[in-house]
Amino acid sequence: MTYKINDELIEKIHDSSDLVDIVSRYVRLKKTGGNYVGLCPFHSEKTPSFTVSESKQLFHCFGCGEGGDLINFVMKIENLSFIDAVKFLADLQGIPLEENKIDYKLKLEKDILYAINKDAARFYYYNLNNNKRPLRYLQNRNIDKNIINKFGLGYAPDRWESVNNYLIEKGYKEVDIEKAGLIGRRKDNTGYYDRFRNRIIFPIIDFKGRVIGFGGRVLDNSMPKYLNSRDTLIFSKGNNLYGLNLIKKHSDDEKLILVEGYMDVISLYKNGINYAVASLGTAFTHNQAKLLKRYKREIYICYDSDRAGINATIKALNILGKEGIEPKIIVLPIGQDPDDFINENGLEEFNNLIDRALNHIDYKIFINKQKYNLNNTEDKIKFTKEISKILRDLKSPIEKEVYIDKVSREIGVSKEAIQKEVSGRDYKGNTSFYKDKYINGRNRYNKNKIMPIKTVLEPAHLTAEKTLIRLMIKNKEYYNVIRSYLGREDFLNYEHNILANIIFKEYETNSDLTELAPKLIIDKLGKEENLDYNLIYEIMDIDVDFLPDNKHKLIEDLIKRIEYSKLEMTRKEILKEIQEIESKKRKDEGDVEKFKSLCLELTKLDKKLKSHI
Ligand code: UTP
Ligand code: MN
Repeated sequence: MTYKINDELIEKIHDSSDLVDIVSRYVRLKKTGGNYVGLCPFHSEKTPSFTVSESKQLFHCFGCGEGGDLINFVMKIENLSFIDAVKFLADLQGIPLEENKIDYKLKLEKDILYAINKDAARFYYYNLNNNKRPLRYLQNRNIDKNIINKFGLGYAPDRWESVNNYLIEKGYKEVDIEKAGLIGRRKDNTGYYDRFRNRIIFPIIDFKGRVIGFGGRVLDNSMPKYLNSRDTLIFSKGNNLYGLNLIKKHSDDEKLILVEGYMDVISLYKNGINYAVASLGTAFTHNQAKLLKRYKREIYICYDSDRAGINATIKALNILGKEGIEPKIIVLPIGQDPDDFINENGLEEFNNLIDRALNHIDYKIFINKQKYNLNNTEDKIKFTKEISKILRDLKSPIEKEVYIDKVSREIGVSKEAIQKEVSGRDYKGNTSFYKDKYINGRNRYNKNKIMPIKTVLEPAHLTAEKTLIRLMIKNKEYYNVIRSYLGREDFLNYEHNILANIIFKEYETNSDLTELAPKLIIDKLGKEENLDYNLIYEIMDIDVDFLPDNKHKLIEDLIKRIEYSKLEMTRKEILKEIQEIESKKRKDEGDVEKFKSLCLELTKLDKKLKSHI
């Protein structure tokens, strides 16, 4: 065998593996105090004397005297040499064996970042406890001292250089603080500014208890709602889960619930569910699936019950499926997230939802049922076709049969017809006729009559605004085109709106300008409060030369995207009104009229939305 075993590889293995996890593959462990105990795998016994210390990452058996660290455990239990045990663990954690040059410098660098984060977390925590406003905010959300301490919540003061000054005083270098993602360099090179300001801070802690990054939430409705640490040497969003640090410490539960947000984890915890983790707002990744897999628990997904949450659930289902995990889906009432639900209904009701969680096929059937009105023949056909497509992917013929039977009974279509549909053959024996329009991403939910759309601006919309702003700054000709379609008020993001105002005004008042200097715009921003300068610098950083060559086509596409978003938002408002009328116990004539006209409007909108794609 030619692979190299060196200190760095061993360090990496210790870094990425947890002894409790590894031992749990072989021994059923129970938590007692700070340790785990179980029946010793190395000698036969009836009462457990095999102990694993999580904090020390060591095991010891008081019965037979066997003991050691992770690698010793694997050597012994798998009967491997030291080198093979290392290889075994490297394989398990997906650590490649070829690229292991000793890199003490890197380790040192990382250690500095961990230390900086830890001190920053302390600073934020201290500030929370000395500031009425954020404390009041948390109080209003029913988060008490105990929870603040458990999650190490904090507050970033409303100043440009607070954490920076604190950390410098502690002896850290600004370059390192920047590497930790806590500060950003000012564009004019006059120093650094704090990235987190006037936000509630959620430290993100890995399973070894190290603070690897932060999330920060505004105290009001301004945007962006959350700001997260950028990826650093020690933090990569897609490789971590929020709340993982508390899982082993406090819960012996057999379940693990995947939720979307920081607040979901915290609220569930507060109400007695201490086994939830959040995917940190990014799309769920394969690495996160691998992380979950380690726990060998039953996985539940409980994302927000809105369109974005449903789409994210389906994506997560696919990713988990690839890792061999068959999660269940906890379905919340429409428009709610776990935080809302458990606060309103309590633990018992949430447990009921867990008990009623759906497997992925049932979930897809459930979602499709919402989309269609099964009393309407046309919808019923569409529904059956859609479900058949899902059933077609089932590998097990037994499962297929069971579901075909179930769907047939539920909607009153014969089993034979569904069977035919599932096998995907029309009367000519042609199998390609299923590649219809529904497969096509975004359009899927336009037909949907009840699903509300998330109010936050979609990333694609934000990017469109951003790019258009940059283009207007770059060239008056672009500005002229854009202005003929969009007004200032069409830029919905707060920062973008302010920038658009400045740009429009500059071109309008100085007719000989052919472009605008970014610096001029930043100067014009002046001392505007509450601006997210990161966002503004990000826009100025967009390199226009790297955008597609055909700028007019690009502008056209971006404007279309914005118009699409606006239509979607109007649609959402109409839906809300429709729902309001629907939920009225007693509807008068006016309501019925209004209802009709709203439905008509909705149909028109849907047509427009469709023609936009
Ligand atoms: P949500 O908007 O559902 O937030 O985003 P939430 O967790 O329910 O928060 P509250 O209840 O309004 O306080 C879910 C997650 O997506 C990420 C965060 O991790 C958030 O917890 N997110 C959201 C961002 O990173 N940035 C944002 O601007 C919004
Ligand atoms: Mn929420």
